[in-house]
Amino acid sequence: MDTIFDAITLGDIPLKNRAVMAPLTRGRAGESRIPNDLMAQYYGQRAGDAGLIIAEATAISEQGYGWPGAPAIYNDDHEDGWKKVTKAVHDKNGKIFLQLWHMGRVKDESTYRNNEQAVAPSAIAASQNIRRASGKAYPVPRALDADELPSLVNDYVDAAKRALRAGFDGVEVHSANGYLLDQFLRDGSNQRQDEYGGSIENRIRFPLMVIKAVAKAIGPGKVGVRISPTNPFNDMKDSDPAALFSAFAKELNALGLAYLHILEPIREEHAFANGPVFVTPIIRKVYDGNLIVNGGYGLDSANTVIADKTANAVAFGVPYLANPDLMARFQAGADLNEPDQATFYAGGAEGYTDYPALDQNEEAA
Ligand SMILES: Cc1cc2nc3c(=O)[nH]c(=O)nc-3n(C[C@H](O)[C@H](O)[C@H](O)COP(=O)(O)O)c2cc1C
Repeated sequence: MDTIFDAITLGDIPLKNRAVMAPLTRGRAGESRIPNDLMAQYYGQRAGDAGLIIAEATAISEQGYGWPGAPAIYNDDHEDGWKKVTKAVHDKNGKIFLQLWHMGRVKDESTYRNNEQAVAPSAIAASQNIRRASGKAYPVPRALDADELPSLVNDYVDAAKRALRAGFDGVEVHSANGYLLDQFLRDGSNQRQDEYGGSIENRIRFPLMVIKAVAKAIGPGKVGVRISPTNPFNDMKDSDPAALFSAFAKELNALGLAYLHILEPIREEHAFANGPVFVTPIIRKVYDGNLIVNGGYGLDSANTVIADKTANAVAFGVPYLANPDLMARFQAGADLNEPDQATFYAGGAEGYTDYPALDQNEEAA
């Protein structure tokens, strides 16, 4: 019976085990948006342990950028910065994908450089965001014209090509957590009257255009997709998430991607009130490829979903944030480090590269 410790190949990428480090925005790239030595150290610390690292959400364009301190991948300096990170990971024999991000309507105004309004499928503002320090509501975004969409697809493709040039093994298209592609998927945020809104078939059209174009540009075996079917983060709402995401997954199944990554609710009360809390079993029925699941997993629950074949691999977010040697700890039955929430999204080395590994603990003891 397979366990989290067994090797697997996702698309073109052979992994030493089935533990994936989930994408984690850490806000350490500074105003330049260029990945730096500290980030290379952080990812390098985790690269010998995880089968696959999915690097944090990274802006594909100036328009898509909107989180203070987050990195980007739309110019040569960004690309060069990421080379440090991919080298540190490959030096440890790790594999790393980059998560491609356009924030759509939840672009934070503090990051505006051109005073440009945030864009979205429809002119509907997100009503809440737990990250907003100001406590102010988001402004109403500008609805994208249909004839702007091909250039947005190009932004994703260019970012994917840059990612490969920077040494990444592949990319994950971020279609989760209430950002641009998720905004297109949901009828709560997408009320367009054209062929990109209305029916499920229409709402999945633009995300599929992006994913197909990226897969064509770099090869489907180097592309993953992340979804979060019942996550209300960033004011996501949908009348029928199970029907929406099974239709989306069915289309993705035909593309032969490296994986589909599903963020599930950590606790039932975190999920949408309507529809099932866990959509993964429904998706499993229509998706034959590799599924990665995430959300509150530990060693035993990860082994359970791998053994019963609900998932092929499991991603860990906060556990990897706080434990650079998570799998070694699982294997040794060791305690895990406590995560420090205050340093999750900003700061320097503290709460970032200073979580000890087991061998360091022993040295300190
Ligand atoms: C500090 C922090 C940053 C995150 N950044 C991202 C991100 O950049 N992209 C993304 O898709 N999810 C992001 N998430 C969600 C995580 O990838 C993951 O889904 C979540 O932490 C639940 O998994 P866990 O219970 O294993 O931590 C973030 C979560 C945290 C705590």
